[in-house]
Amino acid sequence: MKVWRGGADGAFQAFDVPRQPSQTVLDVVTYIQRHLDPTLAYRFACRVGMCGSCAMTVNGRPRWTCRTHVDKVAQGERLEIAPLANLPVVRDLVADMREFFDKWARARGHFTPAATRADDLAKVDPASAARREADAGIECIGCGICYAACDIVKWNRDYLGPAALNRAWTLVNDVRDTAREERLQAVAGDAGCHACHTLMSCTEHCPKALSPTRAIAGLKRATWRIAFEPEAPE
Ligand code: SF4
Ligand code: SF4
Ligand code: FES
Repeated sequence: MKVWRGGADGAFQAFDVPRQPSQTVLDVVTYIQRHLDPTLAYRFACRVGMCGSCAMTVNGRPRWTCRTHVDKVAQGERLEIAPLANLPVVRDLVADMREFFDKWARARGHFTPAATRADDLAKVDPASAARREADAGIECIGCGICYAACDIVKWNRDYLGPAALNRAWTLVNDVRDTAREERLQAVAGDAGCHACHTLMSCTEHCPKALSPTRAIAGLKRATWRIAFEPEAPE
């Protein structure tokens, strides 16, 4: 198996790692660091598909490595592990996630409540259409896999990308949030939802089975609606 070493101009290095039953790609990387080369840099935290930090490129495809079994992805003996695409490389398997999270902030991906902690808990009907839309994208773990899979991100470095837009759509549908208009304006520009070509790679690769493509379609409709809504009379 081969693992990326160095920065953007690095190269693959070969290692011999014994195969084990139920071995994950993250187990392979951990074995290399613990037994073969302690200088190997990589990132993980939970090991159970919750934190989103272990995403890497495995045989050319972005995946969460703690939930990816070697048996499922190794092509014969070939297993090439590299950092996530579409992001700068810090070192070895560590991608620099700054631009990914900066784009969440640009898409106003933070909750803006009206209530204070003195107020009662909000009651939101689980069967309401808005609640169902908000819930559809809420399980995002911020892994960056969709971002690494998206060709528009590769071609347009300014594009907000599927995860930030999925987050924006979740909040647009959160009836407790007060920044709907500002958020729709933030995602309506050239680098926002209308830049998406509906190529579906984000949805095909998302390990949480979310559909950023669907969220982006919702944002497209909502931004068109506010663009053509007649101004309220003074
Ligand atoms: S559907 Fe849009 S955001 Fe998703 S991968 Fe395709 S172009 Fe990118
Ligand atoms: S939408 Fe899916 S692939 Fe994208 S960051 Fe969230 S969990 Fe990861
Ligand atoms: S280590 Fe947390 S999702 Fe893989």
